[in-house]
This record gives sequence, structure tokens and C-alpha cells, in this order.
Amino acid sequence: MSVSTKKILDMGCGEGWLARELSILGLSVTGLDVIPGLVQEAKKFGGAEFQVLAYEEISDSTITERFGAVVCNFSLLGKESVEHIFKVAPTILEADGYLIVQTLHPSIEQHNYKDGWREGSWVGFNSEFCDPPPWYFRTTESWFELFHMSSYKLIQFKEPINPKTGKVASLIMVGKVSS
Ligand SMILES: C[S@@+](CC[C@H](N)C(=O)[O-])C[C@H]1O[C@@H](n2cnc3c(N)ncnc32)[C@H](O)[C@@H]1O
Repeated sequence: MSVSTKKILDMGCGEGWLARELSILGLSVTGLDVIPGLVQEAKKFGGAEFQVLAYEEISDSTITERFGAVVCNFSLLGKESVEHIFKVAPTILEADGYLIVQTLHPSIEQHNYKDGWREGSWVGFNSEFCDPPPWYFRTTESWFELFHMSSYKLIQFKEPINPKTGKVASLIMVGKVSS
């Protein structure tokens, strides 16, 4: 995926591994997360700026910087909180900025393929993540609608394959703020 930008907001950064990796590539990164313990851990490792903030609190007054891209890596778990991010992201993005989302591929839902709350699970994440909260499942169609209703142009849509299993590993979507 090629998105040219220098300033990134890592939304729901956890202990900040992605922010650190992007910083190594020469990008200027800010990570935010609602869990103080994870942000504390992220600050300990350094490599980027980190702050405690809930998605629900994001506005152009709580975040005064402007970013070239907001990256949400497996971090869009709620319903209203996620809808809020889609609504406010253009106000914290530069003109023509990007909203990049990687999420569980909707095909993981075999028997109940409709939007709704699901039991929590951090399977695949490290032990810093405990006590998983419920999360809101969205169908592929629902993700599409979220981008379109929030006035992003969906410019990339990828379904990476796990080369070992041959199964789809995730869903990656890149929206561009329509200017
Ligand atoms: C599955 S973890 C992913 C963390 C990281 N992006 C990664 O790739 O390892 C989801 C993260 O999103 C954060 N998160 C979820 N809902 C949030 C909210 N409403 N406000 C802020 N952070 C939130 C959680 O605290 C958690 O650290």
C-alpha cells in the first residue's frame, strides 16, 4: 500500500509497536489509547509521542495538530465510538488526508453475518491485552457504507492472504477525505 504522508496518528495504539515501526521509517507519529497502562508502556519504549485519550473525546479542540493519515490497526472495536472517529477524522486530517483501517476480515463470521455486538477476544495479541471487551462486528457492506456515508473516497481495499494457511488474514481499507 502506498500512501505518501509524514505525520501519522496511530488510533488505539496499544503499547505502541506500530507507532515505533513507523517512526523508524522516518514518519512523525502520535499514538493515542484509552488505557493508561498501555500508554505508559508505550512511553517507556518511546519512539513516538503517546497520549491517553478516548475516541469519544476526539475533536479538533482535544487534538489541535493536523495529520496526513489516521491509522486504525485492529483498534476499531465499538459502534458509536467508531462512527464518531469516522465523523471527526476529517477535522484532524490535512486536506486530502487518509483514514486507514485494518480489521478482522468479516468472513470470520460464518453463521451470523450481520452487524452486532460480539463477545471479546484478544486472540493473536500479546499478553499486555487482557480482559477483552465486547466488540462490534461489521459486515463488508457495512464498512463500505461507513466510509461512503462519512464522505471518504475508498481508494484502496485489500484482503491480504496468510501464505501459510491460504486464508484471508484481514481487511485493509484506505479512505481519502473528499476535498
Ligand atoms: C486490539 S488492540 C490493537 C492495538 C494496536 N493498534 C495494535 O495493533 O497492536 C485495540 C486497542 O484499541 C484501543 N481502543 C479501543 N477502543 C478505544 C476507545 N474508545 N478509545 C481509545 N482507545 C480505544 C484499546 O485500548 C486497545 O489498545
